[in-house]
Amino acid sequence: MDNFTLIIVGITSNLAQIKLIPTLYDLVASGNMPKDFQIIGIGRTPMDGAAFSSFVDQVLHTPNRHHTHDIDPKIQTKLMSHLSYLPADLTDQKSYIELGKLLAHSPHNRLFYLATFPSLYESIFNNLKTAGLIHESKDSWVRLMIEKPIGHDEDSARELNTLLTSHFREDQLFRLDHYLGKETLQNILTFRFGNGLLEPLMNAQYIDHIQVTAAEDFGIGARGSYYDQTGALKDVGQNHLLQMIALATMDAPKTYKTEDIMEKRVEAIESLVPDPDSLVLGQYAGYQTEKDVSPLSVKDTYFAFKTHLTDTRFANIPIYVRGGKQLSRTATEISIVFKNSAERVLSHLPGGANPNVLIYRLQPNEGIVLRMLTKVPGHEMKVEESYMQYCYPRDKDLPDAYERLIIDAIRGDQTFFNDSREVEAQWRFTDELYTAVTGTPELYSPASWGPTGANAMIQKDGRSWLEPSIAFCNY
Ligand code: BG6
Repeated sequence: MDNFTLIIVGITSNLAQIKLIPTLYDLVASGNMPKDFQIIGIGRTPMDGAAFSSFVDQVLHTPNRHHTHDIDPKIQTKLMSHLSYLPADLTDQKSYIELGKLLAHSPHNRLFYLATFPSLYESIFNNLKTAGLIHESKDSWVRLMIEKPIGHDEDSARELNTLLTSHFREDQLFRLDHYLGKETLQNILTFRFGNGLLEPLMNAQYIDHIQVTAAEDFGIGARGSYYDQTGALKDVGQNHLLQMIALATMDAPKTYKTEDIMEKRVEAIESLVPDPDSLVLGQYAGYQTEKDVSPLSVKDTYFAFKTHLTDTRFANIPIYVRGGKQLSRTATEISIVFKNSAERVLSHLPGGANPNVLIYRLQPNEGIVLRMLTKVPGHEMKVEESYMQYCYPRDKDLPDAYERLIIDAIRGDQTFFNDSREVEAQWRFTDELYTAVTGTPELYSPASWGPTGANAMIQKDGRSWLEPSIAFCNY
């Protein structure tokens, strides 16, 4: 891997504290870093070296559901030997002159990670350019990593993409959706196209419907000001859930090359048909009293909708999608529900209308499992649900999505990043869904499965939501 300097603009942000700093620790611990690398964290708060060290120490020792393992002081010391802090006013050119001084003594390949407000991007790019800091040379690269929100609708996303491409080439841009970095989501491609056993069944002749669920049993935490501008559908539906659908339904790429995989993924998203009348929005009771949330807020903390694809082999299979906070259980999964085959000789036995479900479980109990009916051992003819399962080994932590994606960006591999066409297609879909929204979201109780309207929506089609099971990959 090339030597590099990673410049994190917004090192004290929520994102940096929850994801980036723990990821940097893991990257150092994994031994995957090149010989020479530097990380410069930029923030508004004035802090000297000692204060910054204790800030990082506090971040690493704060309970974090994404980063649950122990902190080894030796790794932390090693991390700090590569990490420095620059207090800066991002709108002031003088700050960039200071940054330039630090960069002069660091590896020349530069990855800028913007963990700050999109409203500051233009001024950051102009200042970086004036200071000569985003200029590539014959043997050094400059790349930019940003993540959502990439706009708040299709028009604003297009505007932001225009701004980005006026300063950087598309191959320098790494638009991050951390779901694309999840081991379990990437595995879907290998599982589907590496095996081929189930692929012939992946069409409307055999599949009854698909369900995509991203349920969280916690609320918005300290992110009220962001969340109350965004809502659940735009926070995770427009991006993470559409990516989940894309990977589960895209056609086989010609090769495993970046452009072929991206092309098929984007084609899947572009062929998704929104059904605005199916959209149900909900809000958990108590949301309006969360910190930094308007007491009259009508933001959604839950959404459910129905969609289908037109062009891939999954064409015309109903896809039911739901996501939300303060639900009964945390579980993220895609369930492919097969039809109750006419040849099922034992179809008179209990086991529900559709016993066979292929589940891609992203978290928790990560794995890929196939639900089957099997006979309960004994003298009676009784059946039970069993799972044929591939589970991830429990003895080692899966690399975090951010770890994987930062390494990909340093290697220059854009396969699991979004290009402008993909982001705009996601917004087009979401904007159209929103067209039918009127009134306020339906209230639901925390620790429930969401608003009753979502049940009514799927029941209208004679189906019901599957409760995410904890009966597999559970050791
Ligand atoms: C983020 C959303 O993008 O994804 C959060 O802003 C959400 O609201 C999170 O909780 C879910 O990510 P993960 O990796 O915990 O499933």
